[in-house]
Amino acid sequence: MVLPAGKEFRGAWMVGNWKMAMPQRRSLQLASDIGLEIVKKDLNKQNRVRFGLAPSPMCIQPVIMALDGLHSNIMVGSQGFYAEKGKGGFVYEGAFTQETSLPQIRDAGARFSLLGHSETRDIEDYGVKGLRLTDAMLNERLRAGLAFLNENESLRDFFIIYCVGETLKQRDEGNTKSVLMEQIQEGFEGVSDGDMKRIVVAYEPVWAIGTGKTASKDEANHAAGYIRAYFKAIYSAGVAEGLRILYGGSMNPKNVAELMAQEYIDGGLIGGASLNVPDFLSILEQTSQIYNG
Ligand code: PGA
Repeated sequence: MVLPAGKEFRGAWMVGNWKMAMPQRRSLQLASDIGLEIVKKDLNKQNRVRFGLAPSPMCIQPVIMALDGLHSNIMVGSQGFYAEKGKGGFVYEGAFTQETSLPQIRDAGARFSLLGHSETRDIEDYGVKGLRLTDAMLNERLRAGLAFLNENESLRDFFIIYCVGETLKQRDEGNTKSVLMEQIQEGFEGVSDGDMKRIVVAYEPVWAIGTGKTASKDEANHAAGYIRAYFKAIYSAGVAEGLRILYGGSMNPKNVAELMAQEYIDGGLIGGASLNVPDFLSILEQTSQIYNG
């Protein structure tokens, strides 16, 4: 397949989001099994597709150690972080029970962090009793996080994968576009052009996450195209062209090829199918096939 120029230039990111799925021992086993298969299949030797895993914060460092020496090219990252704007400026550490800071995940060796996953968001008709973050709270974390990253030269290549997506009700009411627009507008308020180099966006329709329902390839591509166009409108053509937009929501070995062939989709954020080696490897292999022939 001949890749559209933008897609080729951006390459693909395939990131497994392990949520709270496994205790440490299983996480380490799974990470090294995935790493070994990647090496066995030479997927680590191609440079257009990058792999990531986001285990729970306490498993970041052990997972990195389990992968040590394999040269699998797997980036390990965090599922989120806490930061806020205090009276005297952004606050990265302090008295925040149960939270994880960027300095902590940096010290563990994380190369990226998710932010704004729907399981952490304030979503009215979504039954999960989670952390309930609003767009404004996420914006505070994002801006504080970016300020911290910019102060630390060693974090030059640290990325934030910012998740957006509509609920089933919002979709059925025809509001997908306006919901995405609002999430981006509020979430990225005050984020500079330069900071956008650190951002990867994940389009994750809430109704498709963990449900086995996937957005059709056209639906997913349309939403990703819309997100790109909106970033072009609020930043610039250059920012929009360089922005990686991942799709997340029941991505699996059966639908990955058609999703990854879409013009505006640059990768996947994969939950359930990243929890077993055959499915995740098949997803990585099929993507690699599309990008590297
Ligand atoms: P899923 O999860 O692949 O299990 O739908 C995706 C995600 O929540 O990031």
